[in-house]
Amino acid sequence: MAVLETPRLILRPFSEEDIDLLAELMANRDFMRFSLGVFSREQTAAFLKKILDWNSAGLPSLFAVIVRENSKLIGYCGFFHQEVDGTNEIEIAYRLHSDYWGRGLATEAARSVRDHAFRDLKLSRVISLIHPDNRASRRVAEKNAMKVEKKTTHRGFPTLVFAITREPWLTTGAAG
Ligand SMILES: CC(C)(COP(=O)(O)OP(=O)(O)OC[C@H]1O[C@@H](n2cnc3c(N)ncnc32)[C@H](O)[C@@H]1OP(=O)(O)O)[C@@H](O)C(=O)NCCC(=O)NCCS
Repeated sequence: MAVLETPRLILRPFSEEDIDLLAELMANRDFMRFSLGVFSREQTAAFLKKILDWNSAGLPSLFAVIVRENSKLIGYCGFFHQEVDGTNEIEIAYRLHSDYWGRGLATEAARSVRDHAFRDLKLSRVISLIHPDNRASRRVAEKNAMKVEKKTTHRGFPTLVFAITREPWLTTGAAG
């Protein structure tokens, strides 16, 4: 699995040693906003195992987000396998520690993941699943050149399906 570098971040594969830091993040209400709620250590371990299984199978997966300046793990950004209305999709997902919100870091991470999807993994399409009230996340998706494709119900929640396909990414210069 690749390591992605942006001006302020390093996105690297997760490892088993990340369990303590990830469990701390996933026990935090702000970090887990717009989800089913905070995770116990056991739930986080199961989540991490799923990520590590995707990594070893060579499938698109989540990256650990590390701040270059202080080497801290502040969240995740990357690919998550979803089923939406009966179709298998690859989502770009992101969550960051609230101390780091509002600095453009999620946008920076999500763009590099999107570019990796099309440039390196040659994916044809990626989506983001976002609760309509999650304005920060909607903004990140918009700045990632994604467009709302439809509204659906996902795991019982009203959900906007944002999507971008390879062609507009190639032609709008997002590739640069
Ligand atoms: C969503 C999240 C990752 C955004 O992280 P971030 O690093 O603060 O995002 P950025 O700074 O890159 O950009 C956020 C954009 O949303 C805007 N924004 C931030 N908070 C907002 C709010 N409460 N209402 C409206 N817009 C908001 C910012 O102004 C910025 O847009 P701009 O550049 O046009 O000003 C972060 O808020 C988070 O981890 N939230 C909890 C988990 C979550 O909701 N994840 C997404 C699930 S779909």
